[in-house]
Amino acid sequence: MTVTHNDDAISPQEAAALVDLILDRYHAVQRAEVPALIRLARQVQAQHPDAPRELVPLLERMRVNLDAHMQKEEDGLFPAMRLAEPVSAVAVEIMRDEHDDHAKHLRDLQRLTNDHTPPTHASLEWRQLCAGTRKLADDLVEHIRLENEVLFPRFGA
Ligand SMILES: [Fe+2]
Ligand SMILES: [Fe+2]
Repeated sequence: MTVTHNDDAISPQEAAALVDLILDRYHAVQRAEVPALIRLARQVQAQHPDAPRELVPLLERMRVNLDAHMQKEEDGLFPAMRLAEPVSAVAVEIMRDEHDDHAKHLRDLQRLTNDHTPPTHASLEWRQLCAGTRKLADDLVEHIRLENEVLFPRFGA
């Protein structure tokens, strides 16, 4: 059998390290932090009649979307990528489209939280909520960047 050498090909070690970084640093963290933010947002809503009403439903939508998206990556693309095997270009395009949906939700989150800035009269919980939504936004931007600009291109997608 002839094996052609491709200088751009990602090694299984490199692919596995990148996928594992994304799983540990972003997927696992988001799965823990988004539900905690929803609980905090409910608390803030109960404390402050002037807190944005749309925040809890938005965070709940983000949790459902993110969980479904991460599960698709973990069941579909990542096992093949960890072995540096070829992946479906269509599957990657779908992941990129879903990243665009996440980015739209992040813009909504930024607007609803006044750019993650609590008002001067905010409770400790409201301040913690804003710090948490800011971290979620920063993490999700970097998570998407790593997949769109570092991981997927290594598979020609
Ligand atoms: Fe991901
Ligand atoms: Fe993703």
